[in-house]
Amino acid sequence: MTDRYAVAGNPVEHSRSPQIHAMYAAQTGEPIVYERLLCPLDAFEATVRAFAAAGGKGCNITVPFKFEAFELAQHRSERAELAGAVNTLRFNNEEEGWFGDNTDGAGLVRDIERNAGLPLHGRRVLLLGAGGASAGVLGSLIAARPAQIVLANRTVEKADAIVQRHVQWAAEHGVELSASALHATGHGFEVLVNGTAASLAGAAVPIPDGVLAPGALALDMMYGPAAAPFLAWARSQGALARDGLGMLVEQAAEAFEIWRGVAPDATPVLTALRAEVG
Ligand code: ATR
Repeated sequence: MTDRYAVAGNPVEHSRSPQIHAMYAAQTGEPIVYERLLCPLDAFEATVRAFAAAGGKGCNITVPFKFEAFELAQHRSERAELAGAVNTLRFNNEEEGWFGDNTDGAGLVRDIERNAGLPLHGRRVLLLGAGGASAGVLGSLIAARPAQIVLANRTVEKADAIVQRHVQWAAEHGVELSASALHATGHGFEVLVNGTAASLAGAAVPIPDGVLAPGALALDMMYGPAAAPFLAWARSQGALARDGLGMLVEQAAEAFEIWRGVAPDATPVLTALRAEVG
């Protein structure tokens, strides 16, 4: 029987993951099928367990179940522990238990460093938002050893809590890490990552003009119409504007490798998706 994988979430009908993993399977010759697993809001665990019992080998987890997936994993990677969330489950046998990882941050870092061509080492980074999206990537951003990361959020207490969880990790990597209000971040940032849901809410980019260094990279973790207001603002600041499509294909590549032990090449997949999404 062909090994089955799926993206588990609610909603999942617009997920690009089946398309991305089908391209990775074709590219690597790995014999897998990848499906959509719509989980009722009160039945994530039951749905995923039924999928595993029916021959599923692993799944990606999307909104709003990444925290529940964290609880379901018996073993977790260090980056998943830091994120407090799991986006990739590998169903090992009963003895070993399920393995939970979080590939979002590695996907973001790979997209910035490899696809956008900007090494993070020694840079000044501003990360906006203190929800699941930002918490999910901070550990990997730190591991890339920028000089500084400021985590700015409308509700500073939430940024503070995430920073506290990462203090030791940041010290180990020589990164100056701090929490800030949106209007008190300082300026001269060479990389800006937007992990807020402000544009989804139709709100403006929640930071003042002038915080970016000339020629900075400004990346929204969203893509498609949801990213448009941020990208327009980024261009108005003279920044290089980038959406979250590259992060999406790179986090999927990392998940594929966790399941199959084979690293696919994300570049042609990003090119194909870019042609569709614009
Ligand atoms: P996710 O898990 O996708 O990150 P979330 O947990 O709802 O979603 O977090 C959304 C983030 O966007 C939060 O940081 C939120 O700020 P608060 O913590 O202060 O709520 C931020 N956000 C949402 N709308 C915003 C707006 N209009 N301006 C600024 N920040 C906003």
